[in-house]
Order: sequence, then C-alpha cells, then structure tokens
Amino acid sequence: METKKTNGQEGGKRQRLSTNMVNVFIMGKHHIVPEHATIMRAIEYAGHQIIRGAGCREGFCGACGTIYRLPGDYRMHTGLACTTLVKEGMVLTQVPFVPMLKAVYDIETLKPDVSAIEQVYPQTFRCVACGTCSKACPQGIPVMDYIQAAMRGDVAEVADIAFDCVACGLCALRCPAELIQHEVGILSKRLTGRYLRKESTEVDERLDQVRSGKFEQEYAELMAMDKQTLSKLYYDRDIEP
Ligand code: SF4
Ligand code: SF4
Ligand code: FES
Repeated sequence: METKKTNGQEGGKRQRLSTNMVNVFIMGKHHIVPEHATIMRAIEYAGHQIIRGAGCREGFCGACGTIYRLPGDYRMHTGLACTTLVKEGMVLTQVPFVPMLKAVYDIETLKPDVSAIEQVYPQTFRCVACGTCSKACPQGIPVMDYIQAAMRGDVAEVADIAFDCVACGLCALRCPAELIQHEVGILSKRLTGRYLRKESTEVDERLDQVRSGKFEQEYAELMAMDKQTLSKLYYDRDIEP
C-alpha cells in the first residue's frame, strides 16, 4: 500500500487507554485508533491517505495484503487490511505488491494435466509440503492442498480448492520454496474452464438472454443512477447463503 500522510492521531509509545481505543504501530509509528476499526480504517484514522493498495474494501480484490505481529506472540500474521480488525499492541505494515513473474502461455497449446504445470510453472514441484502457505492465506484456503493437486496434475481439483483465491500473494510471500501459488491456481482455472467444464444449460440460457438484449433496459437504469441509490441497491440485494 502506498500512503500519504495527512493529519491524524499519533502518540509516543504504547499507552494505557480509556475504553474503545487501542495502541497500534503502523509502519513503525505509534498511533491510537478505535478498537473496532479494520486495519485499513485505522491507517486512515492515523492520518494516511491510501493512494495504492486498496480496491474493493470488502475482501474481494486482494490489493491490501498486510503483515503484523501481536504482543506476546512470536508469529508473523497475515491478513487483508480491509477485513482484519486492529488489536491492542498490533505492529503492522502493508505489503504494497508481491513481485511475480507471470508466465505467458497459449491455453490452446496446453493439456489439462500435469504437463501444463510442468511447462508453465515448473517451480511448483519444489514444494516441500510445509503448510506455510495454508497458514498465511486470509481466505482460509488450504493452499498446500491445491499445490499438491497441481503436482498430481489434477487441475480440476486445483480450480475447485482455489476458487475463493483473491490473488493477494501472501502465500507466495511466505513460501520457502518460492512458488507463485495463486498463478498455478489461475492456470488451473483456465484449463478447467477451457477443457473440463461441464455443459451448463443454465449458463447457455442466460447467455442467450444477454445476447438477445433482455437486460439492456435494466443496465441503462443502473447506469443512470446516482452513487447513493446504487449503493443502497447493492447493499439491499439478495445474497445467496
Ligand atoms: S509454503 Fe510453499 S513449500 Fe510450503 S506447502 Fe506451501 S507451496 Fe509448498
Ligand atoms: S491462495 Fe494465496 S494469493 Fe490466494 S487468497 Fe490465499 S494467500 Fe492470497
Ligand atoms: S481492498 Fe480489496 S481485498 Fe482489501
């Protein structure tokens, strides 16, 4: 995350506080912030304007990877800044970007089996099954399991396990074998979509409806709405359990 300092609450060292506030250390500097704030809100409360490293603010885009430690706990924790709440004594910093070397490939020349993994991401086979990636994942995905599935060439299994991946890169950041797990997941999803997808009459019907212009009027109405109305509509929507 890239930030710019504006005004905000600062203090010296960790203080005994009245209710509803906690001490946190953001990029090495002490701040006093509301106890129920997300890390992202706390950063803003502390006076930083977030310029990069935030997108959806709802846990979907993976832009806001964060690492932190807690008092009395030796472990390095990982989380998404927009969904992780601050805790007393938290020492945190954002990870603005996890460098990746994305492979370029033509899906039409690959097969949906282990040969694709060998060809595109051969480093996958360096996995030592330590489980660190699974512990690091803020989505609770058993990342090691999908890497093991990739090593067996079961790309459909990889696609299934990695379905909720938001590509934050925190697993890759912690991997001692230096894999790029989520790129293996994306490759497997593409292979599954291209070669292994089961036919779906529902999807075909919906595509026909879209192509026939059934939703054009609805799109036009949405595009004409102001932000407040659109926001209300979004948050009031039916959500599948
Ligand atoms: S962190 Fe790396 S080496 Fe460890 S299980 Fe995950 S992919 Fe394998
Ligand atoms: S699998 Fe890796 S990149 Fe995907 S959400 Fe989990 S930690 Fe982030
Ligand atoms: S801002 Fe999108 S996941 Fe945090």
